[in-house]
Amino acid sequence: MEMLRDADIDPTPLAGKRVAIIGYGNQGRAQALNLHDSGVDVVVGLRGGSGSALEVEASGLETALVEQAVASAEVVMMLAPDEIHAALYREIEPALREGAALGFSHGLSVRFGLVKPRADLDVFLVAPKGPGTALRSLYRDGKGMIALWAVEQDATGSAHAIALAYGQAIGCARAGLIASSFAEEAEADLFNEQAVVWGGVPELLVAGFDTLVAGGVSPEVAYLECVGELHLIAELIEARGIAGMREVISNTAELGALLGGKRIVDESVRDRMAEVLREVRAGRFADELRTEEASGYARLEKARAEARETPIERTFKRLDDGS
Ligand SMILES: NC(=O)c1ccc[n+]([C@@H]2O[C@H](COP(=O)([O-])OP(=O)(O)OC[C@H]3O[C@@H](n4cnc5c(N)ncnc54)[C@H](OP(=O)(O)O)[C@@H]3O)[C@@H](O)[C@H]2O)c1
Repeated sequence: MEMLRDADIDPTPLAGKRVAIIGYGNQGRAQALNLHDSGVDVVVGLRGGSGSALEVEASGLETALVEQAVASAEVVMMLAPDEIHAALYREIEPALREGAALGFSHGLSVRFGLVKPRADLDVFLVAPKGPGTALRSLYRDGKGMIALWAVEQDATGSAHAIALAYGQAIGCARAGLIASSFAEEAEADLFNEQAVVWGGVPELLVAGFDTLVAGGVSPEVAYLECVGELHLIAELIEARGIAGMREVISNTAELGALLGGKRIVDESVRDRMAEVLREVRAGRFADELRTEEASGYARLEKARAEARETPIERTFKRLDDGS
């Protein structure tokens, strides 16, 4: 694995270039501000009537309508939600300069064909491995967030150098830039979202909570046991790795984990994980995302409303309010 840091990277490929950030949400805000603080010429492209305009201007950044921002820039970063990339790219393609660089922070829309960039464009990926809020706060603390980077299309011969300089300017090369590909980043990220951290872990917490409550344990105690300790293990794993985490917990907890962990996460879980990976690679999730966007996010809205009314959420509210 190749990991590049600040000292390995030449910042000059971005010198004198203008970067248009399209979308001022979680990643757009952080990347625009980090680029600006690194001395890069940044314009934030907003749609007409955007609710973000006042905030962007108050932060000292230049704004323009999306097409004008794109037309004025040598580097254009697609930081609107993935599911609108297809429509957004159709809108901006005529304004993209010949030989411009088009950047992404997730490989999904290129890997699964939502965006088919023009042949004259450089197409690169810099995908920070965490939310924009942390990307920004780490940068301000003089640190950085690790990121994956890749080039899908090198039309001008400069795509690799621009991608690395971009990763450096948003602060990620302080922690490290790891070479990947659009396919690897997209597939691994979508797999993790479904099967591990964002899909699997919360369902494990809910199943544990429900089992304890059904067994007569009070919801508050069940919540503190099953959910309240999650941040402790996350912090230990981040600082020491999984083996190191096990070495510092009590013998009681370590033996419990040894006896129980593989009973719960057995081979059948690996089989279903492999199925998820096969489906992701076949583009099934990308199809689901397109359908969801087309329906006005009906399934997500329904799931959000239902989740707020579950016993585990009511318990969280009681503990959080102290009521
Ligand atoms: N969220 C993360 O932690 C994270 C981490 C790594 C990578 N990524 C990737 O970063 C990219 C951006 O994700 P995100 O979570 O930052 O997105 P987000 O917060 O949902 O983006 C919202 C922004 O997109 C703008 N937008 C929405 N539709 C638009 C349109 N049709 N034209 C122009 N702008 C539009 C919104 O404009 P208004 O202000 O006008 O509403 C808003 O500024 C995605 O590719 C994502 O996979 C995200």
